Amino acid sequence: MDSVSAREVGRAIDEVGAENVGAFIGEPVQGAGGVIMPPDGYWAEVERICRARDVLIVSDEVICGFGRLGAWFGCQHYGFSPDLMTVAKGLTSGYLPMGGVMVGDAVADVLEAGGDFNHGYTTSGHPVCAAAALANLAILREEGLVERVRCVIGPYLARSWRGLAEHPLVGEARMVGLMGGLELSPDKAGRARFGKAGEVGALCRDFAFADGLILRATGDCMLVAPPFVLSESEADLLVARVRGALDRTLAEVRRLGWM
Ligand SMILES: Cc1ncc(COP(=O)(O)O)c(C=O)c1O
Repeated sequence: MDSVSAREVGRAIDEVGAENVGAFIGEPVQGAGGVIMPPDGYWAEVERICRARDVLIVSDEVICGFGRLGAWFGCQHYGFSPDLMTVAKGLTSGYLPMGGVMVGDAVADVLEAGGDFNHGYTTSGHPVCAAAALANLAILREEGLVERVRCVIGPYLARSWRGLAEHPLVGEARMVGLMGGLELSPDKAGRARFGKAGEVGALCRDFAFADGLILRATGDCMLVAPPFVLSESEADLLVARVRGALDRTLAEVRRLGWM
């Protein structure tokens, strides 16, 4: 796949003038947007375009960071070097709330040269949350959980997850690391969308919830992001329950005449 979408970034910057653009901000993979992966070569081309125009790159690692894609950061998975990174969720694995911005040397040098970097929130660097983050990072490292996502449980879940593409209600099944999306469609071949966006996704989510599975719906795309300690039998159970929710959704959609 070429990088038409990356070239759109260049076009958008040139339209307003590179001197008027501070930074390009993007998620390595759009997470809550539907686990939307960039086309091959997208990030390399975005990096080339931004560097050529002296535009900073901010990688939004709030979801992708700390192992979700099977690398410590999403930018490493896609091989680009951002100037700044926003981080949150995986920093503490959600046990306590903490977010942050990581700043590369080139930007930090400018800030330092200007004197104090006055930037903060009331609870910035909260010691209890910071302790939870340090403990979490130590566990990720000591138990090799990022490698486990990349080499063991990610590929294991991806195999059966992609098998869900055969279900009559699924237009596409995609997974990267331990983050998966299922695009529901009334027309497998054409991958058309349902007329009433979000209603079929909500049905499917509710069937999954009723069966004890937390499945998120973004419109008619079903999302999962299971914990890194997921066992193979739990992965099997997860896929079986998704399949059950899909079957029940299909029956309901047919009963309602939506398909
Ligand atoms: C990719 C991404 N970026 C940013 C945010 C917002 O993060 P915060 O609520 O820490 O400001 C979210 C929240 O879900 C997110 O998923």
